[in-house]
Amino acid sequence: MQKPKVLIVFYSRNSSTELLAKAVAEGAIAAGAEVRMRRAREVVGHDVMRQAPGWLENATEMNAKYEAPTEADAEWADAIVFGTPTRFGSISTELKAYIDGLGGLWFQGKLNGKVGSVFGSTSSRHGGNESTLLSIYTPMAHLGLIIVPLGYADAAMFKAGTPYGATHVSQLDAVKPDEDHLAVARFQGRRVTSVARSLHCAQEPVAA
Ligand SMILES: Cc1cc2nc3c(=O)[nH]c(=O)nc-3n(C[C@H](O)[C@H](O)[C@H](O)COP(=O)(O)O)c2cc1C
Repeated sequence: MQKPKVLIVFYSRNSSTELLAKAVAEGAIAAGAEVRMRRAREVVGHDVMRQAPGWLENATEMNAKYEAPTEADAEWADAIVFGTPTRFGSISTELKAYIDGLGGLWFQGKLNGKVGSVFGSTSSRHGGNESTLLSIYTPMAHLGLIIVPLGYADAAMFKAGTPYGATHVSQLDAVKPDEDHLAVARFQGRRVTSVARSLHCAQEPVAA
């Protein structure tokens, strides 16, 4: 049977969102998906990136590991999973710039019916994880994506994450996602793959 194609497109400067993205990919691959991981590129200049220790170095390192997302990636995918650090309670400009660049595909109706899902990271416990994830539900709806939330559909959801998607609280980037938070991200990868398979992959013909 055809493998569900899952695009994981994220922005990250201090690796919390990147680590969640990798766990989403693990879950998707374990569920039988073909996965592309892409990192949205910088929008702010080096003058800004130099103002915090590690930002420029981390960005350079991640950009060497992950290709920039393209329109072709979105067209290829059966499912698109977005990942973002919170920026003032909402989506990062870097990820939003990629989403806005999908306007041509939107115009042609080429994203209609693909699966969409989202995960993210904040610094503080009430710093906006849920508002950020929900803010991405809006463009996902405009793009015509079939939004896949997590609910409490797995035991992992009773320990970490949110019903809207996997999350992490980095406490000023000092804490990386622990096993409980990674388990939620893996569940997200499995669930998205399962829904994408149901919607987009031809079923094996049933023997008469
Ligand atoms: C411009 C800017 C705005 C931010 N706004 C918030 C915020 O509203 N709430 C919060 O908890 N963290 C905020 N943060 C912190 C990041 O969301 C947090 O450090 C996140 O874990 C980083 O993820 P990353 O390691 O994937 O880069 C902000 C960071 C920056 C640079």
